[in-house]
Amino acid sequence: VRVAVVFGGRSSEHGVSCSTAREVMAVIDSSRYEVLPVGITPTGHWVEETGVWDDLPSGTLPYVRDDRPDFSWDRLQHEVDVVFPLLHGPWGEDGTIQGMLEMAGVPYVGAGVLASAVAMDKPFTKTVFSAAGLPQLPYVTIQPWEWDAKRERTVARVHALGLPVFVKPARAGSSSGVTMVSDWGHLEDAVEGARKLDPKVIVEAAARHKREVECAVIQDLGGMPIASEVGEIVVDDSIGHTYYDFEAKYLDGTSQNVIPAEISTTQRDRIRAYALQAFDAIGGEGLARVDFFLTDSVDGGLVINEINTMPGFTPYSMFPKAWEASGIAYPELVERLLALALG
Ligand code: DAL
Ligand code: MG
Repeated sequence: VRVAVVFGGRSSEHGVSCSTAREVMAVIDSSRYEVLPVGITPTGHWVEETGVWDDLPSGTLPYVRDDRPDFSWDRLQHEVDVVFPLLHGPWGEDGTIQGMLEMAGVPYVGAGVLASAVAMDKPFTKTVFSAAGLPQLPYVTIQPWEWDAKRERTVARVHALGLPVFVKPARAGSSSGVTMVSDWGHLEDAVEGARKLDPKVIVEAAARHKREVECAVIQDLGGMPIASEVGEIVVDDSIGHTYYDFEAKYLDGTSQNVIPAEISTTQRDRIRAYALQAFDAIGGEGLARVDFFLTDSVDGGLVINEINTMPGFTPYSMFPKAWEASGIAYPELVERLLALALG
């Protein structure tokens, strides 16, 4: 069976995708699968990338090099049996490559066009979550025209959320372009920063004393979604991370995954039930990781934050670790996802 692993890409999460791809390709069972590694450079050039990076300075993430042989994407249609689109963020986790593969009639791992697009767009995710009755923190969406033409009214709506708030690009991931604002004087800069990644911006109320817990979902081979053990992200705030930002996630190794999270059984059961509800609400397929906050305010403290349809997937990431703690080891997880895609 020929599997194309597609990684890198044009989004701000390029390096995260390459890290994941390296690890996934290393565990794909070579007696059953032949791997075709396909890289997309940060400028969108498709190449044959070996995915072997031995000379990386520490504190940097791998990237797809431009000086590799060209890869023509129509080869996906003719030469492979299944695609593993290991891309994070816009142009990959958002329904775009999924649409291309649907048109080409090639099976692929993970969510389809609609689920990918909804989960990539935070305001749309929230609309779908509230229709499903899932508890969330208050937020404000800032459309491009509102920021340009209705600045004062928009700022007033944001102020009504109360400090502190998180300002985020509507469509991005791994905390790229995210600023925590604890002083209204910094709001406009934060919005301008987020707008560099996406003209649409979301501002979310930041719950006090919050903990971040996550739950992974996959479909079993019969197609039924199942939820993993719940894990908690513990960020080391002694060295300047006030939240789980890009550096804490990938660069300095200071955040920890605690699995199972130290929470009550009732809370654990609720998180797992909400994770499955969220997966269903967006029409998820294959895999997802659903992120929650424990606060001291809303609905007994539990609110849903977001769902990721192609979560980070290195052996140190929460998604595979949560499955490992639930009895599914990393190579088996990769094997299951491929088998599910092949049907
Ligand atoms: N967006 C990153 C890769 C994650 O959710 O794991
Ligand atoms: Mg997240």
